[in-house]
Amino acid sequence: MAVGVFDSGLGGLTVYREIHDLMPDLPLVYFGDNAHAPYGVRDADDIYDLTCTGVSRLFDAGCDLVILACNTASATALRRMQEGWIPEGKRVLGVFVPLIEALTERQWGDNSAPREVDVKHVALFATPSTVASRAFQRELSFRAIGVDVEAQPCGGLVDALEDGDLILSGALVRSHVDALQRRMPKPEAAILGCTHYPLMADEFQAALGEGVKVFSQGKLVAKSLEDYLKRHPDMFGAGEASEFLTTGDPVSVSDQATRFLRREISFSPA
Ligand code: DGL
Repeated sequence: MAVGVFDSGLGGLTVYREIHDLMPDLPLVYFGDNAHAPYGVRDADDIYDLTCTGVSRLFDAGCDLVILACNTASATALRRMQEGWIPEGKRVLGVFVPLIEALTERQWGDNSAPREVDVKHVALFATPSTVASRAFQRELSFRAIGVDVEAQPCGGLVDALEDGDLILSGALVRSHVDALQRRMPKPEAAILGCTHYPLMADEFQAALGEGVKVFSQGKLVAKSLEDYLKRHPDMFGAGEASEFLTTGDPVSVSDQATRFLRREISFSPA
């Protein structure tokens, strides 16, 4: 009964951590495509091909349900995968919808017509590909009206985090927040639309100021997965062992992951 967690690299570990903390007995197979990270500067076809390859590996590892713990893949590839690629009996879910449900204060599965919500000015921080896809605005428009979204592509931030360079990461956060605030001086809410960014949540909050509510995905995705599994116990999958797979060098990825999550993590070759 394993569930798969996919990311281009280490960022999905912020989602993995919350799922594991909420459901410690649920076996999870994590796949990091570190050899091809970052995805955020790749084109849509490339992201689609790489995501399908990684998700297939998770199906082979006994997962019937895979969470794309990667906004870039969720924004760019998920729809196309759902339109014909996903095999019978398998399911792939993205990380956008739980976040948008929280932002618009909707309950799980509330598919009523879009309505006015309290927040009117939302800042979105994400990778260049996620911003270019406009997938966040599209999903939001199904649920809310009258929300102004200003998106900031945070070039360089994923590379700096994958390299463990927190000084450069902090400087990039401040300069991207600054660039966004020149276009939207007073957002009420900010979305960390990349699973790498929760590592910099304090820096985003400090740069944005205390009045801005910062949303990140880990806990929201974990909670909605728990709800989903209660409704679909058949999606647990055959796999029984938890493991961490990478397309990169397992030794250096394990070191980086252990630093990244501040807990011992050991990757095997995918
Ligand atoms: N952490 C991923 C995301 O949520 C991917 C970042 C990247 O590979 O550029 O977008």
